[in-house]
Amino acid sequence: MGEKDSKKWVLMATARSPTNIAVIKYWGKRDETLILPVNGSISVTLDPSHLSATTTVAVSPSFDRDRMWLNGKEILLSGGRFQSCLREIRRRAEDVEDEERGICIKREDWEGLHVHIASFNNFPTAAGLASSAAGFACLVFALAKLMNVKEETTELSSIARQGSGSACRSLYGGFVKWAMGNKEDGSDSIAVQLANETHWEDLVILIAVVCSRQKETSSTTGMRESVETSSLLQYRSQVVVPRRLIQMEEAIQKRDFPSFAKLTCADSNQFHAVCLDTSPPIFYMNDTSHRHVQLCFLVYCICLFIRLLDYRNFQDRWNQFEGTPQVTYTYDAGPNAVLIAPNRKVAHLLLQRMLFYFPPPSEKELDSYVLGDTSILQEAG
Ligand code: DP6
Repeated sequence: MGEKDSKKWVLMATARSPTNIAVIKYWGKRDETLILPVNGSISVTLDPSHLSATTTVAVSPSFDRDRMWLNGKEILLSGGRFQSCLREIRRRAEDVEDEERGICIKREDWEGLHVHIASFNNFPTAAGLASSAAGFACLVFALAKLMNVKEETTELSSIARQGSGSACRSLYGGFVKWAMGNKEDGSDSIAVQLANETHWEDLVILIAVVCSRQKETSSTTGMRESVETSSLLQYRSQVVVPRRLIQMEEAIQKRDFPSFAKLTCADSNQFHAVCLDTSPPIFYMNDTSHRHVQLCFLVYCICLFIRLLDYRNFQDRWNQFEGTPQVTYTYDAGPNAVLIAPNRKVAHLLLQRMLFYFPPPSEKELDSYVLGDTSILQEAG
């Protein structure tokens, strides 16, 4: 190792990863260590400029242990998931040379070197917006960059999966499918890109942050309890999801919004029904979430009405739109709404309605909130 004795050098790499929102949900593991799911899932990766994690990893001979800071606060690295990712990346590490600074790390040196990690999320952490997906995808990508790992994205995605299941989908942009696989070693439980980010550019995704507090039941604990106690989950994973995955893939390929919308909200509803079917029941959505769902149906009615005003081919149009919402929603393990519109026009209408029914708090209300008087906010709904 070059400059080994000086202990002065630090080598760094930074990466940014977006979060992803599942439209067919992953909920339940058949192997907790390898993180193998009980069913496949499909997600949309968001634009990294909005919801993403940025991670810098650093290595230096002066570091005496692995350490990590999340949003500026040091966190304990006791959990096995972080160690699994680090171990898998270290196993694949190559020689690294920085000629300018005279640093040369040999492949075999990586075992004896410790890393420091600083990660920031530009959105609420652990509030049901898939922060662990962005976090682990980013960590694995940054470590691979630092250690000059030459693996393909599929391999990195499988490593990220061992940090957090949903993270394997965040290594790709666009629409991504995570196949459940059948093999015990998990080698066929991989994520693949179904369509890239330019495939369906008209889609607009709005995120309504209802509550940025950390959820009470983590996804990991929640899904473990569902696997142990919910019979609905068994039915869902064996009968419902396999069929939905095929239908969803087709809807995405054809950019068929009505089918996409119907499947997305049905799958979200069923996921939350599984949570209620769990013992003890898990409540991720709250009253405001339920009101957002109602709002989606209100916007659907408005869209339907506007379209029916153009009453040429009235009957055809009616048949086409009956029962097919023009906006859809999905909720992960939290109360925050992810609303999806087929285009900007409908998204504007939805946003208008949202701001009308759920106006953002005024400066005064925010001040009172900071000072601890939550009654004003409650009144404001
Ligand atoms: C509801 O990937 O956070 O967001 O694998 O235990 O880390 P672990 O769980 P995680 O679960 C995500 C669950 C979900 C649905 C989804 O993203 O598919």
